[in-house]
Amino acid sequence: MDKPNTGAVYVCDSDELKEAGVGVRFELRTSPTSTPLPAFAVRSQGQVVAYLNQCRHVAMELDWQAGYFFDHERRYLMCATHGALYEPQTGLCVSGPCRGQSLIPVPVIEKEHKIWWLSDLPL
Ligand code: FES
Repeated sequence: MDKPNTGAVYVCDSDELKEAGVGVRFELRTSPTSTPLPAFAVRSQGQVVAYLNQCRHVAMELDWQAGYFFDHERRYLMCATHGALYEPQTGLCVSGPCRGQSLIPVPVIEKEHKIWWLSDLPL
């Protein structure tokens, strides 16, 4: 498996992310001694997007069950704690207590059927 660049960290295979389906949770470790940050990737409108798994209302993880980020209509990413809804493509909160704020995006690319976190790019 060829890394797309030196900072790339493997997340998952492309076929693990179905359109508006179950997401893949992963951890960001910015140095060997740093506390890992929870993150997740989902596929929306054909594109893979990834964010820190941290609601902008209270620093809680969003998924109501591991990997379940989409609401029932599979239109928005939903925080399980107080129901904030985020646009999957932009991470913008469009409903709920943190309306107008955005999830923190994690730079990822999809290449040769694999998803990679680009750890050398800033969050
Ligand atoms: S913790 Fe996410 S909406 Fe309150």
